[in-house]
Amino acid sequence: MIKGAYPVAEFESLRTPFYFYDAALLRSTLDDVRRQTARRPDWHVHYAVKANFNPVILRIIAEAGFGADCVSGGEVSAALEAGFAPESIVFAGVGKRDDEIRLGLEAGIGRFNVESSAELRVIDELAGSMGKTAPVSLRVNPDVGAHTHANITTGLAENKFGIHHSRLGEVVRLAMELPHVDFYGLHFHIGSQILDMSDFVSLCNRVNACLEQMDSLGFPVRDVNVGGGLGIEYEHPNHLPEADFEAYFNVFKKHLPARLPVHFELGRSLVAPCGTLISRVLYVKDGLYRRFAILDGSMTELIRPALYHAYHRIENLTSDGPEEKYDVVGPVCESTDVFGKAVLLNECRRGDLIAIRSAGAYGESMASRYNCRPLPACYVSDTGVGIKEI
Ligand code: LLP
Repeated sequence: MIKGAYPVAEFESLRTPFYFYDAALLRSTLDDVRRQTARRPDWHVHYAVKANFNPVILRIIAEAGFGADCVSGGEVSAALEAGFAPESIVFAGVGKRDDEIRLGLEAGIGRFNVESSAELRVIDELAGSMGKTAPVSLRVNPDVGAHTHANITTGLAENKFGIHHSRLGEVVRLAMELPHVDFYGLHFHIGSQILDMSDFVSLCNRVNACLEQMDSLGFPVRDVNVGGGLGIEYEHPNHLPEADFEAYFNVFKKHLPARLPVHFELGRSLVAPCGTLISRVLYVKDGLYRRFAILDGSMTELIRPALYHAYHRIENLTSDGPEEKYDVVGPVCESTDVFGKAVLLNECRRGDLIAIRSAGAYGESMASRYNCRPLPACYVSDTGVGIKEI
């Protein structure tokens, strides 16, 4: 079995479970994205902070010159602290609180992605009371399905997100009338972990239809934000460590007008590959039908398998023994606390180090303290620095 290369000897002395981030892989991923987007002067990538808000990860992404995509006041603060330029911060979310809107206005963020006319009126009122004008775009519910898990599609009419495209005209008209908002453009997001590029083509078609609609109504659209959603190959972290950025950006190059400034909000594809959850085998137990590898890591560190039946590749880093099938489970008192069923692993013994791969996105950021478990420790390895706790 091909496995990832990890500093196993150094791991041996660390208390498990913990997240391990490979800063060199993150930097090369960011370089790759920058190379792709340099093809158009007016393309801007905002990192979706929700995927991983570890301060060290945020700082690396801010230093690489990316903007930030936030969905709460907490994320706006985290992005500002990490050094993202305020004007590069975009703020979406169906339920922004007044204090969160004020925080964004105070900081001078680049854009509020507004999800309803009710929210638009509140932003106008708050901006007016602060003597400011809020830069806004309208989030469109494009009613475009994506081939991904039902819980992570966002662009269908039945989802709570955005303004349905049939209502767009009236809300843009309101945005043009209100005195303390400055209307810039349209925002879209269809879902996450999307590998079928035709979904993004459908998105572009919807974007173009909306642009035509705006044009016929005489509303100027200065830019478009197409959201995030590019998926990664969870099955093949060793062969395909990076998302297919080339194919992704080619879609937008081919299907959107060249003169249009485009904003992207990538989360998972930037950070998932660089993170691994490292855990230890506590016990190997023979059930009646299955053999269990019981780890000290659980759904409280990485909830994706329990929540979405998500697949993460699992490797035993400290055994070359014959491969056997295990149900890899955690110690939490929930039947769904399972990382994988019938997983082929080199023979497991107590104390073996287990890597759960591609866990850099929606892993640490979704960790919980269920069962009074501590939040996971985190380490980063960086060129010239070695491993350090973060
Ligand atoms: N923009 C908006 C408006 C979003 O709602 C999201 C993700 C993104 C950008 C970033 O999408 P990405 O490039 O990461 O796919 N917890 C789930 C994923 C939830 C995604 C929520 N929205 C998971 O673990 O799969």
